Amino acid sequence: MLNFQENTDLIRYTTFWVQAKTKLFVEINSESDFLDLLETWEWKNNQHLFLGTGANILFTKDFDWLVVKINILWKNIVEKNDNNVVVEVGAGEDRNNFVERTIDQWWAWIENMISIPSSVGAAAFGNIGAYGMEAKDRIVSVSGINTTTKETTTISNSDCSFWYRESVFKQQFKDNFLITRVRFNLDVYTPDYILNTNYKDVQQYIADSRKEINIKTVSQAISEIRESKLPDRKTLWTAGSFFKNPIVSKERVALLRTNFVHLVSFDIPDDPAYVKLSAGQLIELAGFKWYKKGNVGVYDKHALILVNHGWATGKEIVDLAGEIQDSVQEMFWVSLSPEVIYV
Ligand code: EPU
Repeated sequence: MLNFQENTDLIRYTTFWVQAKTKLFVEINSESDFLDLLETWEWKNNQHLFLGTGANILFTKDFDWLVVKINILWKNIVEKNDNNVVVEVGAGEDRNNFVERTIDQWWAWIENMISIPSSVGAAAFGNIGAYGMEAKDRIVSVSGINTTTKETTTISNSDCSFWYRESVFKQQFKDNFLITRVRFNLDVYTPDYILNTNYKDVQQYIADSRKEINIKTVSQAISEIRESKLPDRKTLWTAGSFFKNPIVSKERVALLRTNFVHLVSFDIPDDPAYVKLSAGQLIELAGFKWYKKGNVGVYDKHALILVNHGWATGKEIVDLAGEIQDSVQEMFWVSLSPEVIYV
């Protein structure tokens, strides 16, 4: 049964905790709820916005819209043998909780992506990634409902146009396709499974802790590393990394390094002529670490993280982001684009 709420306060629906109101709000718990919603007057007469955990979204104003909160929850093992497990997960499931459950089962997949808040649907939408792994590495397919034809479609990984924090769902399918479930292919962990411990921080942690390297100790290492860099979201509100790491040609980096010798860069496996620079480092070098302006600021332990110190508006955060973008542009001739989605 659909329960429309009017004039709803959205502050608790994003991890940035900014004030915003919407004319109409509804939660859907199943695909059939969504098909029912498509027949309603409220859907047909209002612009809509889909919302998952709200961990990567910034409200910049009040809305005259229908906000649809996706609560489609279930997990189902589709196939299992000695080596692999294929699991289908509802788009509204908490992705981090799902990662933790799979590690408990000794199912290896994207254990390096532990402790990143997001829903399962948003993980596919934004192809989230960390410590050398991306959601796309283990997604078999994404299913959803086309809002125009009302048909359920399953899109295979190769048709999802996955790229660094990008997908077809963020582009062509942005407003007319609701992701309802995602299928993942996991490995049954054995000591032969090759864990991705390439990142320096991870190697250092493992060397210091002198623990046996397995899926549980590596995920614990990553969880603790992330905790040491990120604010406690219960007391300081944030959407995590605010900008994407900019992709620039190796030639440009060589030129930049004549002035900034210690610039960090990361190789892009599919693109040998380009590298990713660290947006956090550029922002720090531009002088913004520890920066605070009114209710907003840059987190003191990681400059890629913008924070709401309390009662910030979305506009204040957008203005701070703009100030950072201008300074980085001026200093490095590099343009930063937000990973966080402004609405
Ligand atoms: N750095 C600085 N100053 C800072 C922050 C970072 O100099 O204030 C330098 C670090 O010293 C390091 C480099 O920047 O050499 C990279 O920093 P880090 O390892 O923290 O990763 P990141 O590039 O800032 C990306 C992802 C994170 C992911 C980490 C680890 C993006 C937008 N962010 O951050 O993604 O956890 O790599 O792989 O690509 C997230 O938190 O949203 C996230 C999941």
